[in-house]
Amino acid sequence: MNDLRTALAALLDGLPPKEVAAAVDRLIANYRGDTPTHAPILRDQADVAAYAAYRMPATFEAVRSALAALADALPGWTPAGHTDVGGGTGAATWAVQTTWPGERAVTVLDWAEPALAVGRRLAAAHPALKDARWRRARIGADLTLDDTDLVTVSYVLNELTESDRAALVDAAARAARTVVIVEAGTPAGYARVIEARDRLVRAGFRIAAPCPHSAACPIAPGSDWCHFSARVGRSSLHRQVKGGSLAYEDEKFSYVAATRLPAEPAPARVVRRPQIRKGQVLLDLCEADERLRRSTVTKRHGDLYKAARDADWGDAWPPYDSVS
Ligand SMILES: C[S@@+](CC[C@H](N)C(=O)[O-])C[C@H]1O[C@@H](n2cnc3c(N)ncnc32)[C@H](O)[C@@H]1O
Repeated sequence: MNDLRTALAALLDGLPPKEVAAAVDRLIANYRGDTPTHAPILRDQADVAAYAAYRMPATFEAVRSALAALADALPGWTPAGHTDVGGGTGAATWAVQTTWPGERAVTVLDWAEPALAVGRRLAAAHPALKDARWRRARIGADLTLDDTDLVTVSYVLNELTESDRAALVDAAARAARTVVIVEAGTPAGYARVIEARDRLVRAGFRIAAPCPHSAACPIAPGSDWCHFSARVGRSSLHRQVKGGSLAYEDEKFSYVAATRLPAEPAPARVVRRPQIRKGQVLLDLCEADERLRRSTVTKRHGDLYKAARDADWGDAWPPYDSVS
């Protein structure tokens, strides 16, 4: 993240803060508007600079969090190639690089040339990303992707029609052995993730994270939504653009990581913030037997109790390192 932060600071250095602030306002208004969009929202450099400052640190942390769960489920695996569809300024490429540092073939596809241009500029600062290919492509029925190990689709489904969402997931399933999809942690974002998850499972993928199984999600439609939270430290630049003085914000997101590789999904996953009481911890878990269950871990459980006190929303349960 520090690398990305430094690259973002360099990008925004010298841009008039008032212009960036005005572009942030436009961006917020656009993202509140009707989706899908029929033309790129990120039209010019000011729009993209605003996106990079206002949203990219948060989408980066959400993707990084999803990839961390995937990495736990695929120990020892490192993607040799990565394609980021609707990649914009490249948040997911930075997250993949943070999770699995090193050189790989990276392609970023987007229909907004200004976003690709800024992504390219940011990535030029990173030795392992400087050779990434930034290509213009429109997601639609005729989208084809080159074969690769990993496809990421981060905060994109929201901007697509139902048929384009399906075309994108199908193209990803044909091209990649592992697919990671991240959306906003809202009921609608979760619904889009579930739609994609079902499609990937029908295409022969297994779920690596967050779900402990590949059967249907146990949440009754409309009753709740599976989502997680990633803490995003705010730089002074971020505070300047977004306003407010908090040192951090929490980005809520929904995700699915699906793979054709032999994965080891978590035995269960903590799906809400744990409640710590005197001498006990209440964990809301999604379990391998396709049920949601509240588990109470008390001092009597010894080491497990200690682990429960450290457990966080989104963690595997019990922790991977305690079951191996
Ligand atoms: C909210 S941004 C997300 C960018 C990046 N993936 C991230 O996580 O920060 C959505 C991106 O999807 C791209 N996009 C939306 N509809 C598209 C389409 N039909 N074809 C190609 N790109 C599209 C936009 O240009 C934008 O860069």
